[in-house]
Amino acid sequence: MESADVANDLTEVLLTEQQIRDRIAAMCREIERDYEGRDLLLIGVLKGAVMVMADLARELKRDVEMDWMAVSSYGAGTQSSGVVRIVKDLDTDLAGRHVLIVEDIVDSGLTLSWLRSNLQSRGPASVEICALLRKPEAAKIEIDARYVGFEIPNAFVVGYGLDYAERYRNLRDVSVLAPHVYA
Ligand code: IMP
Repeated sequence: MESADVANDLTEVLLTEQQIRDRIAAMCREIERDYEGRDLLLIGVLKGAVMVMADLARELKRDVEMDWMAVSSYGAGTQSSGVVRIVKDLDTDLAGRHVLIVEDIVDSGLTLSWLRSNLQSRGPASVEICALLRKPEAAKIEIDARYVGFEIPNAFVVGYGLDYAERYRNLRDVSVLAPHVYA
C-alpha cells in the first residue's frame, strides 16, 4: 500500500519508494566495490529488515548468501530497552565469513550494538552494518555503521518493513506515524 491509503494515520511522507530505490542502488555499488573478491553473507534482522534485505540482495550484481535472525527487545511501545533475546538464531556458521548485518533502522543503537558483539564472538572474518535509516539524535550508543541509507529526524516512522504494533510494514514509502495512533 501507499501512504495515501492510510493518510489519516500519518503526518508526512519522509522517503518515497523512488528515493529508497535510488539510495539502495547507490549503497549496492559501494558494497560491490568493498567486497570484491570476497564471499559475502547478508544477515537480515526479522522482521523489520525484510524489505531492505529483499531489495538490497536483488539489486546486488553478485552472488551472496542470506540468513536471518529474529531478536526481541524487552519492553513494548516505541522505545528500545537494550536487553535483547534471540528468538530465532542463524542457520549459518560464521567462522571465517564476511558478514554484513542488514537492518531497517538504527535508533538508540542498543539492539545493533548487542547484535554486532554477539556475531563478532562467533569468529567471523568481518562484521559490518548496513542500515537503511539512522536517527542520529536518538543515539544512546555510537554505532559504526558502514552503510547508512538516510539520516532521519527523531520521529517514529513506519513503512518499508517498519511497524507500529505489527501494522504498516507493507507501506511502500517511509512515513511519520501520527501521534494519535499511539497516544
Ligand atoms: P534501537 O535498538 O533503538 O536502535 O532500535 C531497535 C529496533 O526498534 C529497530 O530495529 C526497529 O525495529 C525498532 N524501531 C526503532 N525506531 C523505530 C521507528 O521509528 N519505527 C519503527 N520501528 C522502530
